[in-house]
Amino acid sequence: MIALTLAEVAGLVDGELTGPADGTVTGKVTLDSRTIEAGDLFVAVAGERADGHDFLGAAAAAGAAGALCGRPHDGLPCVVVPDPVAALGRLAAGVHDRLVDGGLRTLGITGSSGKTSTKDLLGQVLTAAGPTVSPPGSYNNDIGLPLTVLHADARTRFLVLEMGSRGPGHIARLCRVARPGVGVVLNVGSAHLGEFGSPEGVAQAKGELVEALPADGTAVLNADDPRVLGMAGRTRARVLTTGRSPDADVRAVDVSLDDGARARFTLVAAGEQHPVALQVVGEHQVANALSAAGAALAAGMDPADVAGALSAAVPLSRWRMEVDRRADGVTVLNDAYNANPESMRAALAALTGMPGERRIAVLGAMAELGPGAAAEHERLGRDAAAADVDLIVAVGPDAVGITDGATAAGRRAGGESVHVPDRAAARELLSEVLRPGDVVLVKASRAYGLELLAADLLTGADA
Ligand SMILES: Nc1ncnc2c1ncn2[C@@H]1O[C@H](COP(=O)(O)OP(=O)(O)OP(=O)(O)O)[C@@H](O)[C@H]1O
Ligand SMILES: [Mg+2]
Repeated sequence: MIALTLAEVAGLVDGELTGPADGTVTGKVTLDSRTIEAGDLFVAVAGERADGHDFLGAAAAAGAAGALCGRPHDGLPCVVVPDPVAALGRLAAGVHDRLVDGGLRTLGITGSSGKTSTKDLLGQVLTAAGPTVSPPGSYNNDIGLPLTVLHADARTRFLVLEMGSRGPGHIARLCRVARPGVGVVLNVGSAHLGEFGSPEGVAQAKGELVEALPADGTAVLNADDPRVLGMAGRTRARVLTTGRSPDADVRAVDVSLDDGARARFTLVAAGEQHPVALQVVGEHQVANALSAAGAALAAGMDPADVAGALSAAVPLSRWRMEVDRRADGVTVLNDAYNANPESMRAALAALTGMPGERRIAVLGAMAELGPGAAAEHERLGRDAAAADVDLIVAVGPDAVGITDGATAAGRRAGGESVHVPDRAAARELLSEVLRPGDVVLVKASRAYGLELLAADLLTGADA
């Protein structure tokens, strides 16, 4: 963070400073007392598992300059506020205002699937043009977004923010913390559909990003998703469209996949054409790359530089289409970070694009789909059955519908379509069936922890 005195912090968040008033925060802002170094600001938040206020003493001992917290502690200067998370947002907003005055460009990304993947591409592309803050991982909520903002300092030229939505008004609130000049909307799918009721509800919420853009900003909209393109009327900003559609402003032509399911295409933008060869896996990354390209062009980069930087970009965040090959020649495609119907289909498409003797889909359930969940799991099973997949393994009680769909679509139950009760059973089954040359996709919503199964497959750990 830029250096701020504790009195300045108190002023920005409207808090009450207890203890000595002359301290200065010279380090980072963190919620994790274990990472504190001299000069940091510790934010004490009451979480599900622990209450940060229990660690104020530890923060003091580790050299924290002070704390942002709900109640004071004798051991260190405290900025006391009624709601530390809200105060964190206000601190980030105050810092962001100063950085924008100094020339910072902020780019926000939302959508149902691919926010982190696109942020990681865009962060790497913009780094080719100047110092960029775009941390790996999925810091897209009321805590993660302000912390990302606070990573920026006076040197930062570009700040890339992932914006998730847990309900109406959420993205609007995140945009008040850090108002972006460029807003990217990727897609409107069924992630968290349970909370929004309908795809229209999801579109309404995601579109809050383009509503927050200024008149001199740019809305980068996916022309291949009608609900996203429909947001063009909700912004004052210039609209730049991306996609495969022939009339998109930034588009991909001649898309092909190499033998590792990585896409190659020609980027067409601003009257120029440049070759791109992605290193990230799956055809869905073409849409993400185009969205990143649109944002980078909106931030002033040249198409040639964008194409070059996209081709140089590597996967940064874990468990998203991570491809690893075991010594015995089994390939594991770990896409277990999360799952919804669209990302399941994208992952199945990537699996079938991989070279191998046999293709095996190990699928857990998709969470938070609301009343349509049963139908979506069955549909996924049918899609997996129709795909070029040799064995479908559904893991866990919530994934039974996948097996039902696969068997209803003609896959032999207990043969080509197997249901196992848990991860351990999946591991046991796979240790028996996997042969050199097989490719295994592992994917489920995060709550089901299948990334552990993928890791075990790679290390060969026993149940
Ligand atoms: N454009 C896309 N269309 C469909 N699926 C995608 C797309 N991009 C990524 N995915 C899939 O979605 C999964 C999650 O990707 P990513 O983490 O980038 O999404 P996210 O939007 O950040 O998710 P979250 O809401 O959990 O933060 C990936 O594992 C991949 O399978
Ligand atoms: Mg994410």
